[in-house]
Amino acid sequence: MFTDIHSHILHNIDDGPEIFEQSVELLNKSIQNGVQNIIATPHFYASRHSLNDRLQKTEERYKELIDHISKNNIDVSILKGFEVRYFDGISHSDSLLELSINRSGVLLLELEPSPITEKIVDEILNMNYCGYSIILAHIERYIKVPGFKHIKNLIAEGEVISQCNASSFISGFLQRGTFKLLKENMISIIASDMHSVDDRPPRLKEAYEIVERKFGLNVKNKLIFKAEEIFNSCLEK
Ligand SMILES: [Fe+2]
Repeated sequence: MFTDIHSHILHNIDDGPEIFEQSVELLNKSIQNGVQNIIATPHFYASRHSLNDRLQKTEERYKELIDHISKNNIDVSILKGFEVRYFDGISHSDSLLELSINRSGVLLLELEPSPITEKIVDEILNMNYCGYSIILAHIERYIKVPGFKHIKNLIAEGEVISQCNASSFISGFLQRGTFKLLKENMISIIASDMHSVDDRPPRLKEAYEIVERKFGLNVKNKLIFKAEEIFNSCLEK
C-alpha cells in the first residue's frame, strides 16, 4: 500500500477538482492505484492568499471529504497540509506551523521557477533551525534552474527531504533527468501531485513499477517506506 504526500484532492480551492464529486473520483482512483494514506496539499501563495481564508476553506473541504470517507467506511487516511510557495522572509513567518502538514512542523515547500540563490538556502536552513522539516516539492522541475547545485547539496547533507512527481517517472521531458536524480540518490519520496483524473491522475503504482524495473526492489521499497514514515511522523506530532 502506498502513501501520497502531495495531492490537490480537495475541490474548489485551487487548480485541482472543481466540484466535490471530482474530488471523490480522485479518491477512488487513488485507492484503485493502491494508495491508503493521502496528504491533501492545496497551494498557498503568500502574495495572493489570505491565511485565515485559506485555512478556513481548506478545513471545510477537508471535513467534507473526511465525512464521505467515514460514512462510506472507506479504508483510507487523509491529512491536510499545504503546498507552500517560497517567499522572501518565509523563515520568519508566523504562519509556518498552521501551513505545515497536520500542524506537525513538516512543510511541503515549492520553489519559484527562478534561480536558486544562497538567500533561499539560508531561509531553508533557518526553517530547519526553527524545528521545521522541509520537503521540497517536485525537485525534478528545477534541474535546469541556475543554482540547482544548492538543492543537491541540501539533499546530500540531509537538510531537506526531496519529492518527485510520479508522472515524471512515467513519461515526458523530465523523465531522463528524474532517473538521473534517483540514480544519484537525490530522491527521497515519490508523490502524485494529482490534480484530476485527466490531468495528472494518481499513478504511483506505475511509477513504482518503473523504479523497480530500472533500479531494483530495494530502491522502490525505500521510497515507499519513506513516504509512509513521513505520513506517520505527521500523525504523531
Ligand atoms: Fe502540487
